Amino acid sequence: MRKVLLNNYYYEYDSIEELDQSDRSLMEEATKSVEKAYSPYSNYSVGAALLLKNGTIISGNNQENVAYPSGMCAERVALFYSSANYPDIPIVAVAVTAKSKIINVDTPITPCGSCRQVLAEYENKYNKKIRIILKGNTGKIFIVEGIEHLLPLIFKANELKK
Ligand code: THU
Repeated sequence: MRKVLLNNYYYEYDSIEELDQSDRSLMEEATKSVEKAYSPYSNYSVGAALLLKNGTIISGNNQENVAYPSGMCAERVALFYSSANYPDIPIVAVAVTAKSKIINVDTPITPCGSCRQVLAEYENKYNKKIRIILKGNTGKIFIVEGIEHLLPLIFKANELKK
């Protein structure tokens, strides 16, 4: 038996002013998208913005439903739109942020397990790591260079071909 350490890490920034211009403007798009979220049940609004390799920016936000599981997270709204409409254009980066009417979101939002799995799928589809930029309404910003850092020991497509 041996203990195996995983080499996952993230970059932490104190404010949006510290980000590169590209990351910063993507986060600004995600912040705009928060305002268009449909979140009457949780009052927790999430915005996601994707940067595609051809420079296109796609945004999405959470879409809730009275039958709760029928709703969808912001990240997957944007990711599915991207693959549906720009199927051959790789995704370079995603910025995600959130705001609540009830609580102070002062730590970065970190994507749910299903969104992590979907991010892993598109990294695999385009054979390209996706830069993931995460922020709350206020506070620090986390950046990871690829989904592996948020989803260690990923179930990969090649597992089906063994
Ligand atoms: N939500 C997202 O849109 N993205 C996440 O990464 C986490 C959660 C949404 C789902 C639901 O509409 C609300 O936030 C509360 O869970």
